[in-house]
Amino acid sequence: MKKTLTSQKVSSETINALPGQPLATSVETASGLLELFTDGIKDMYWAENHLVKSLPKMVSAADSSKLESALSDHLKLTKDHADRLEKVFELLNIKKQAKKCDSMEGLVMSGEHIIENTIAGTKGRDTGLIMSALKVENFEITSYKGLIQLAAMLERPDIAELLKKNLADEMEADQMLTAMSQKNAA
Ligand SMILES: [Fe+2]
Repeated sequence: MKKTLTSQKVSSETINALPGQPLATSVETASGLLELFTDGIKDMYWAENHLVKSLPKMVSAADSSKLESALSDHLKLTKDHADRLEKVFELLNIKKQAKKCDSMEGLVMSGEHIIENTIAGTKGRDTGLIMSALKVENFEITSYKGLIQLAAMLERPDIAELLKKNLADEMEADQMLTAMSQKNAA
């Protein structure tokens, strides 16, 4: 019974979020969407800043110079992502604020466990680091896609454009890490 109620709720939210569907019309729905959106931005702001602090550990744990420089380049991009999110706060006319992102905290912790449980200078360590970085990218890609959709529903193409830049960087990193992972396994 409980399951049915949950699926009905999800189904109605999903229909509302489909591209091409009418935008929110009631003030109550629009403010709910805005709250969902701003919460998501605060979440990602925390996530990106947490990554800025955590990526250096992964950079120094990497064995191959290619992986080291890929992670190091992504650290620079991650700082840009946090800066863009600060611009989103400005455009929304609200104070910048980070909200702890449990998902990113867990992903970073699992990356740290990989470092603890693998031997430095081995292919196994690098494979683990790539896998961990790919998990982070997948989370970020999904999050930005959802936020871009919400920005469109809120009729904020200016904000959607900024978020698309972050998404493009994450997708590029995902492709590059996937290629590296395949090469590592060959
Ligand atoms: Fe990012």
